[in-house]
Amino acid sequence: MLKRPFKLGKLTLPSNVFCAPLAGCSDVPFRRMTVKYRPGLVYCEMVKMDALIRNDQGTFRLLDFEPSMHPIGGQLCGSKPELAGPCAKIIEDLGFDVVDLNCGCPVDKVTKDGSGSGMLKTLDLIGEVLSNMVAAVKIPVTIKIRVGWDSSHIVATEVTRIAEEAGAAAICIHGRTRAQAYRGPANWDHIRDCKQAARNILVIGNGDITDSASAQKMFEHTGCDAILLARGTMGKPWLIEEIYRHFSGEEPMNLNGLDYRDIFLEHLDHIISYQNEKKALTDFRRVGCWFLRGAKNMRHLREAINRSLSVPEIREMICNYPWHEADFSEPAKEEEVGEPLSC
Ligand SMILES: Cc1cc2nc3c(=O)[nH]c(=O)nc-3n(C[C@H](O)[C@H](O)[C@H](O)COP(=O)(O)O)c2cc1C
Repeated sequence: MLKRPFKLGKLTLPSNVFCAPLAGCSDVPFRRMTVKYRPGLVYCEMVKMDALIRNDQGTFRLLDFEPSMHPIGGQLCGSKPELAGPCAKIIEDLGFDVVDLNCGCPVDKVTKDGSGSGMLKTLDLIGEVLSNMVAAVKIPVTIKIRVGWDSSHIVATEVTRIAEEAGAAAICIHGRTRAQAYRGPANWDHIRDCKQAARNILVIGNGDITDSASAQKMFEHTGCDAILLARGTMGKPWLIEEIYRHFSGEEPMNLNGLDYRDIFLEHLDHIISYQNEKKALTDFRRVGCWFLRGAKNMRHLREAINRSLSVPEIREMICNYPWHEADFSEPAKEEEVGEPLSC
C-alpha cells in the first residue's frame, strides 16, 4: 500500500504514487501542477531515441524540467539496441533521476518500426535494449509495458522476467493490450501475475486509477509495489494528495467551485508563462476540456473557450464564471464533452 518514502534502486522517492508519461500532456505547465502535490516520481512524455541522437531541439524541449520537479524520469521510445545506451546516457546527463523504456505506445507510426508496444512482439529485443540502457547509466532504469499485443498474446509475465534479468529496477504494467488502445477496463489480473513472477524487480500498477478507492483496490488486487496515475490527473492534479489523505486517514479535500477555478487558472497561468501565444491557445482548450469535464452544465463555458481566439479573453471568461454555483457532484456526461481522454 502507500509508502512514504519509497526505495527505487539506490533512490529514495517521496512516495510510491507516481505520475505517468503523457505525450502531448505531461509538459512543464502540467508537471508544475502535479509536483505541488508531492508525487513519488513524475515522468516526462516519451521522446524518440532517433530524435535525441539527431539532436532535435524540439525533442530536447519536451525534456525541459525545473529543480522543483525532482525526482523526475525521462522516457525513451525506440527499438535500436545501439541507440539505447547513448540515449539513456543523454537522459542521465540532463539530470534525470530515472530513465524508462516505452514498450506500450499503441500508435501506428510508433509501432510500425517495432517501437512502443511493437516491442511486445520481439521480446529478445526488449532484453537487449534494456541491458544496454542499464550498462550505460548509474540511475535506475525502468520499463513501461502493455500486457501484450492482443488478448491472444499476453506477454507481461515474460517481459517481467526479461526486465529483471536485464537489471531494470521496476516494471510498470498498463493492464490493457495494444489492441484495446484505451477501450474497456484495464485487466489488473495481469499486473498481479507480474507481481507474482517478480523476484527483485518492483512492479508498478497502472490503468484506471481515478480516485483513492481505485488506488487502494489496485494495491489490494495486485500486491503491486507502486501505482502510476495517468488520465486521472488530467484536470485533477490534486488526485495525488487525495490518495495520500485517504491512506493516512485524513479528511478528504472536498474542493468547492472556487477552489477548482483557482487551480484551473493556476494551470493556465503556467501555460501562458511557458508557451508562445498560438500554442497557449490550443493548450487552453485542451486543458479547459479536462478541468470542465469534472462538472455538470459547463457546456456553455466549454464552447465559449473553444470559439475564442484570445488567451486573455478566455482567462476573463473563466474568472467571470459563477463558480460558486458549479456542481461537481458528478462528472459531465461523455456525450456532453465529446471524445474520451486518450492520445
Ligand atoms: C494522452 C495520453 C498520452 C500518453 N502518453 C504516453 C507516453 O508518452 N508514454 C507512455 O508510456 N504512456 C503514455 N500514455 C499511457 C499512460 O501513461 C497510461 O499508461 C494509460 O493512460 C493508462 O492509465 P490510465 O487508465 O490511468 O489513464 C499516454 C496516455 C494518454 C491518454
